[in-house]
This record gives sequence, structure tokens and C-alpha cells, in this order.
Amino acid sequence: MISKGFSWMVVSSIAVLSLLLLAYGISTPSSGVNIDDDRFNSYRKQVPSPRAMESSNDSMQGGDRIGGRWELLKEEFTFTMNSAPFNNCHASTIVEIEKDHFLVGYFGGSIEGAPDVKIWLQRYKDGHWSPPSVVDEEPDIPMWNPVLFKLPSDELLLFYRIGPDVQNWSGFMKRSLDGGITWQEREQLPPGILGPIKNKPILLDGGRLVCGSSVESWNSWGAWIEVTEDSGRSWNKYGPIFVEDESVSVIQPFPYPTKNRNLRVLMRSALGRIYLAESFDSGRSWSSAKPTQLPNPNSGIDGVKMNDGRLLVVYNTDSRGTLKVASSADDGDSWEEVMTLEEGSMEFSYPAVIQAMDELIHVTYTYNRTQIKHVVIRPEVF
Ligand SMILES: *[C@@H]1O[C@H](CO)[C@@H](O)[C@H](O)[C@H]1NC(C)=O
Ligand SMILES: *[C@@H]1O[C@H](CO)[C@@H](O)[C@H](O)[C@H]1NC(C)=O
Ligand SMILES: *[C@@H]1O[C@H](CO)[C@@H](O)[C@H](O)[C@H]1NC(C)=O
Repeated sequence: MISKGFSWMVVSSIAVLSLLLLAYGISTPSSGVNIDDDRFNSYRKQVPSPRAMESSNDSMQGGDRIGGRWELLKEEFTFTMNSAPFNNCHASTIVEIEKDHFLVGYFGGSIEGAPDVKIWLQRYKDGHWSPPSVVDEEPDIPMWNPVLFKLPSDELLLFYRIGPDVQNWSGFMKRSLDGGITWQEREQLPPGILGPIKNKPILLDGGRLVCGSSVESWNSWGAWIEVTEDSGRSWNKYGPIFVEDESVSVIQPFPYPTKNRNLRVLMRSALGRIYLAESFDSGRSWSSAKPTQLPNPNSGIDGVKMNDGRLLVVYNTDSRGTLKVASSADDGDSWEEVMTLEEGSMEFSYPAVIQAMDELIHVTYTYNRTQIKHVVIRPEVF
């Protein structure tokens, strides 16, 4: 969390030195783990690929696949194959309502971008998933990329986009005051504000909700940080964040606070790697984006800044057929691969990652565009 006032001024004065050190660290090949080295090739071999599962109630408890001391505790589908009222679904989001009670959203319809694509929700409670139900739809216009977030007041925010295509969509939101059972009328975000575009926002001290957004215009991709201090009623945007001399570079930021009380974003890119940018003024101005060690086949990522200070990211490697988990003890300067979630010929993509109250990591992701998979990971003890 970023604090205001005196401590922030102290941090700011340290930031000048940090800027020099970090700029050096980001632009210089790190001495950290190279994800292509032999250590990971041998690690990969000892990780069996997950079995295909038929039922959303199939789950695997404990110790079957252990990556280092990271442990995959559970994997399940949110609905059984061919049981949903849509053929195709993608871009899930997850929020914890209370202990062992989660809400998951995604878009679903005949295929991404089709006029019948709606936003769907499912609730995990009392040990099982409710069937998909529509939370919003627009006649003949597709909906896109929902993002759920719970405010400290317990008010739930649901951001999403509506429009004929990615270049031409607009930002909308809904609110729920009862944990997602009922939702208020759709609200339109101001022109040019798209809301958190794929990944959950972060809430800073003082109620600043920092949302990672982005624009995919013709020959012009870039990320923006959209900030609201009144829970989505008024907005400012900061950016663009992009790669110098590249017109199609980075989108879909995952924002997180650093140990030095700065802000960083990790981003999907069209340039083969996950990219990182940093802000030393609470998200108002941003460095240009620099490549990390982690690969990216132009596919959505997400992660979480864990309570113990480590950073976790879930990402595709060479294609959307491989989905891995990596952790960083230095806010993204160097990475260690901790687990392979999927490896195969189908599409496993667009992870959404949270850490629950009990410290466990919950990830949902697209499973071959036909189902949403939910996995629970116990973090290695630090
Ligand atoms: C999962 O189990 C619950 C409780 O036994 C049941 O009500 C539900 O229908 C099951 N869901 C599926 C998709 O099989
Ligand atoms: C953008 O959306 C509007 C409707 O909101 C539509 O009339 C227009 O054709 C769209 N443009 C493109 C390029 O799809
Ligand atoms: C995965 O999706 C592809 C593309 O839609 C499809 O051809 C294939 O049959 C699917 N695989 C499985 C196992 O469902």
C-alpha cells in the first residue's frame, strides 16, 4: 500500500536513487534464473500434465503434483463439459466474497465477438458451483472481459466492455451490495475510460483504485492506468505506457505495489516477452516498458502480490498451449518458475489470480474456450 504524507516524502527522496538502480536493473540482463536453462527442462519432466477431467465436481486433493514446495491442492471445472447455455467462453475473473465463497465471471456466447456474447457469473459456495447465470447482456452487441473487485465496504464492482469489436468497445460497470446476488443498473464509464481491461485493480491507501487498462487501436497498442477515488464515479487516466519505437507493443496491465512503495505493471506484449513498467509517483507518470525474462506469446497474464511480499504470475510460454506459474522475490526483476498448470495442444489462457484470506492462491482460466477451470495452489512457505 502507498501511504500519504510524510512517509511518502521520505520514500520519494529514496526513489531518486532507486530510479537509477532500477533503470539499470530493468535494462540489463539479470543474473537471475533463465527460464530456458537445464534446471527447468529437468523440472518440466517431473511435472506430469494434468489429466482431463469430465466433471466440475472432480477435484484432486493434496500432493499429486508438487512443484518445489508449491503445491497444487485442487483443480476443477466451474461447469461440466457441454452443460452451459453457450458454446464458447473466455476471459474469467474471480473474487473472494468470504471464506470458501467465491464469485467467478467471464464472457460467453457462440464465439468471442459474436452478437450473442453476454457476461456470466457463477458462485462457489458450500463446496459447489452454481450454474452460469447472465448478469448483463445487450441485444446484438457482444460483451467482453469482465473484472470483479470487492471494496473494503463489501460493495462488489463488476467492470466489462460492450461493443462490436475490440477497437470499438466502451467501458461499463455494475455494482452489487449483497455479494453479487443482485446487481444495480448498468453504469457507463466516461468517454475514453475503459475500466480495468482484463486484470483486477489494486486499492491504495486513501481509496485510490488503480486499474490497468489498454487500447488496441489500428497499429497502435498501449497501456493506460485509470484511477478512480470514488469507486468508479469519476476517473483520471495516466499514460500511455508503451515500448519506444514499437507501434504495437503492450496491453492488459497487471498492477502491483513494490517493496519500495512504487507501482509497477506487468503486461502482455506482441514482442515475445512479458513487459514491465514502473511509476515512482503513485501511478501518475510511467517509465517506458522494458522486457522481463518471462516469455509471452501475445496472451493475457495475471498475477498477485502475495501477503509475504512475493509476486506470483500465471502466464503462457511459447503458445497458449502451455500455462505456467512463476514467482519473483524482487518485484519482477528476476523470476523463478514454480509450476506448470497445463501443457498440450488445446488453449489454456487468460488466467485470473487472487490470494484468498487463508493465503491460498486461486486461479481461473480459459480451458479450450469451452470451459473455465479453477485451480487452488498452496504457496511455498517463505
Ligand atoms: C456438484 O455437486 C453438487 C452437490 O453434490 C451438486 O448439487 C451439483 O449439481 C454438482 N455439479 C455438477 C456440475 O455436477
Ligand atoms: C463501431 O461501433 C459503432 C456502433 O457503436 C458502429 O456503428 C461502427 O460501425 C463500429 N465501427 C467499427 C469499425 O466496427
Ligand atoms: C479444443 O478446441 C478446438 C478448437 O475449437 C477443438 O477443435 C478441439 O476439439 C477441442 N478439444 C477438446 C478436447 O475439446
